[in-house]
Amino acid sequence: MADDVNEVADEEEIESSEALIAVHWREEEYYDPPAALAAVANASDPAIRDQFTEDKFPDCFTAYADLLTWYKRWDTVLDTSNAPFWKWFVGGELNASYNCVDRHMETHPNKAALIWLPEPESEAHQAITYRELYVRVNEFAAVLKGLGLKAGDRITFHMPMVPELPVAMLAAARLGIIHSQVFAGFSGTAAGHRIADSGSTVLVTMDGYYRSGDLLDHKVKADEAVEAAAREGQRVDKVLVFRRYPGQYSAGTPMVDGRDVFVDDLLAEHKGEIVEPAALKATDPLFLMYTSGTTGRPKGCQHSIGGYMAYVAGTSKYYQDIHPDDTYWCMADIGWITGHSYIVYGPLALGTTSVIYEGTPNYPDAGRPWRIAQQLGVNIFHTSPTAIRMLRKVGPDEPAKYNYHFKTMTTVGEPIEPEVWRWYYTTVGKHEAAITDTWWQTETGGFLGSTLPGIDKMKPGSCGPAALGIYPVILDEDANEVPAGSGKAGNICIRAPWPGVFQTIWGQPERFVSTYYAKYNKDPESKDWHDWPYFAGDGALQAADGYFRILGRVDDVINVAGHRLGTKELESAALTVEEVAEAAAVPVVDDVRGRVVEMYVSLKPGVEGSADVENKVRIAIETDIGKIARPKNIWIVPDMPKTRSGKIMRRVIAATSNFTDTGDITTLANPEVVEKIREQVQSAKRAKGEVPRELSETEAHEIKTFGSES
Ligand code: WTA
Repeated sequence: MADDVNEVADEEEIESSEALIAVHWREEEYYDPPAALAAVANASDPAIRDQFTEDKFPDCFTAYADLLTWYKRWDTVLDTSNAPFWKWFVGGELNASYNCVDRHMETHPNKAALIWLPEPESEAHQAITYRELYVRVNEFAAVLKGLGLKAGDRITFHMPMVPELPVAMLAAARLGIIHSQVFAGFSGTAAGHRIADSGSTVLVTMDGYYRSGDLLDHKVKADEAVEAAAREGQRVDKVLVFRRYPGQYSAGTPMVDGRDVFVDDLLAEHKGEIVEPAALKATDPLFLMYTSGTTGRPKGCQHSIGGYMAYVAGTSKYYQDIHPDDTYWCMADIGWITGHSYIVYGPLALGTTSVIYEGTPNYPDAGRPWRIAQQLGVNIFHTSPTAIRMLRKVGPDEPAKYNYHFKTMTTVGEPIEPEVWRWYYTTVGKHEAAITDTWWQTETGGFLGSTLPGIDKMKPGSCGPAALGIYPVILDEDANEVPAGSGKAGNICIRAPWPGVFQTIWGQPERFVSTYYAKYNKDPESKDWHDWPYFAGDGALQAADGYFRILGRVDDVINVAGHRLGTKELESAALTVEEVAEAAAVPVVDDVRGRVVEMYVSLKPGVEGSADVENKVRIAIETDIGKIARPKNIWIVPDMPKTRSGKIMRRVIAATSNFTDTGDITTLANPEVVEKIREQVQSAKRAKGEVPRELSETEAHEIKTFGSES
């Protein structure tokens, strides 16, 4: 009897806790790693896990650091004295550019480091050997040096997917200049905010690039970026403009006298110059990568040279199974962390051939990726669930028409539905490739959860066990451990630091601690890492077999096609429109892009809703953030559902947009508005044929709890 009472009490507690849900997940079937791969993979012996058990922490990670060439070996593997600002390989000195370029130039100079495919199929691909890469990196480093840039300075790149981008990154890294690459699809204004936040005085861009058949004017964004930065008090002295076609200007926007310079002109002045790589501290920053969070201000995640390079080299070796003679193609954009870690730094540190593709995957048709794979002999393929869903939708039978063979394939950035996973495995991988579903984040530098492709069984929809040397735990809101196999979800945390973890948020160390470590920290004075679990901001559950299933963000971040968009950023963009009084952004489940954004706005008294206001909101979002953030719908509503303290209940409008149950609304200050909004939005969506299918359990959970953090 007493037990029964306790059980009821427990259940009530579970009900009331947003992050902890009692769920009845369907377990998926296992797939064996391909036998051919198991025999030759870099990690082929399960005993590799014994080298990374907790009793061997942190020294286990020297195996990763030993993949690099060091000028000076470290004295201390992990210094925790300024917790949670972990320092890896303290006392060590190295150079990322040397590790990705020079050392391979010495051993295999004529091997392709990069193969670039322009989007137009009429343009030939370009293979850039390690020797050529060496020359180009040195010359561009000479350009940067000539501008007076030095170690510790920041430089912003707003570059498309062209080889000039890794060249520029490696040139900056050579000198210790901290680079911040902003995704080219982001607007000029978004680039401007990031220039200002990082304090960059030089912007590197390109006149134009191809996207879905159009040669876009990209230079125009540089002008907007410089202006936006100036509004925040940051002056940009120089804008370096690469030309998509050297010697010919592809943009319509004029060059600004004294400020804008063509890079090909500058390079001509530094032809053949060599810039020795600087011996930099392992703990010096390599780059900043901006990402969204719960406030409007993006977070510049600062990554170190030594720890980051060691981690991406190690995980590229064991999880991507990169061997020097592979042809590796990651379709992500270098403007995201995936491209930094697994197009540029990881693969090049291992001296392999990394493919870069300029355009959209389905241009001119859905066979393009498979044609590229066949043409170049790509044997490792890496992409996102959104790209897989899209290619499946537009060309489900295309892969069979091409003669390529992948040994491993990666998926990253969002949860992948088991059904989509199976198409990837069967049709794209032709039953012969291992899939690694890699769970990680901008902040984490590299993979945290994944199967080892030559060893572990795969399970669709689960990323697999923790990566080597990573010790996750799922905690409930009261910091109790949620046991594996309990069928319950909670907040996934990582108990111990790892070399790839970011060092801080640029210029916001308090936010670094409060966002990622404060939640489960027991003693802010503690210098023992055991007291500082890393809070990833994702909901997850662990099956009895130890495999993790990632459910998605628990904060106010909307993951659109693998791109993190903060609700506050979207809302502040909408609020720049004069007529708008209040704005709320919510996710809507989408069969291709995972989630898309819907915006709700209410207008100032006396202002009438119109297509014109709607359009202004759309333009404001595209201008401030970029086209990727364009809302699917903008709903002008009479009022927002609010709590008595005036907080907008995003979960209620999210439920409206997704046709799910709005849950308990009795605590609202204005419950009557919920019905009005539902009527307005859902009838409009019905008329447009936008009634969604029934949501899966994980999707429904996300919508139900959306915005509960704020
Ligand atoms: C989500 C991308 C499920 C997750 C590398 C995380 C995933 C956020 C996976 C980070 C995966 C990433 N399965 N969800 N395999 N990988 N995510 O910073 O919510 O762009 O927190 O880094 O994407 O996105 P970010």
